[in-house]
Amino acid sequence: MNLPLIAISANSPPNRNNMTENFPGYFISFEGIDGAGKSTHIDAFCKLMQECYPKHEVVVTREPGGTPLGEQLRGLLLDAPMNLETEALLMFAARREHLAQVIEPALAAGKIVISDRFTDASFAYQGGGRGLSIAKLNDLERWVQGRENGTLLQPNLTILFDLPGEVAEARRSKVRAPDKFEKMDLNFFEKVRQEYLRRAKEDPQRFHLVDATQTPEAIWDGLQALKINF
Ligand code: TYD
Repeated sequence: MNLPLIAISANSPPNRNNMTENFPGYFISFEGIDGAGKSTHIDAFCKLMQECYPKHEVVVTREPGGTPLGEQLRGLLLDAPMNLETEALLMFAARREHLAQVIEPALAAGKIVISDRFTDASFAYQGGGRGLSIAKLNDLERWVQGRENGTLLQPNLTILFDLPGEVAEARRSKVRAPDKFEKMDLNFFEKVRQEYLRRAKEDPQRFHLVDATQTPEAIWDGLQALKINF
């Protein structure tokens, strides 16, 4: 199994097609706009992976968060108003800790890591939604996910729950009190969605798109039929 680690040089945008280093584990991220329904399926998907790969421990985690420090940062990020660049830097600071403490050791030990969000969320929310420059996000990504040999650590597979902003908005209004991001308007979520789709188009081998307007049963059938290249 190859973990897609992507060759980069200091001043060029990441080359997303070059696998240069192997880990024995497998890394999956779940993504989508708030209200897309990823949380409904993530636990069942983890159980399914554990059944399919009984010799590999499945580690379930989330971003922002996944470590004691990361969870503290999550509390701030989801509630406290802050400058956009501060927000992006804290997202990536939490991610650096998450990689160092949880993701990299687990992948090195041959485990399957399933993360509820990863870097695509920073591109979608801070970049697409809030308008932070993609060049700055590329720099942060390179800094935080770059490795000594000049490669960039990414998930092997990203499952993107895609649906129109207004459908997600209607679903969100039925749940608990909204956090800072969930309070944003339709226009914000449409921009988040478009950036997710742009990333998916740029890296079709990594992304699996789920039409999240389907019923939960139909979505689950699709997830069960997913081909995992591990
Ligand atoms: P979410 O994953 O939706 O958790 P819950 O289901 O408990 O609401 O919440 C995390 C929020 O953080 C979500 O609105 C997206 C946002 N976020 C970013 O803006 N940038 C990031 O890099 C990450 C990881 C998350």
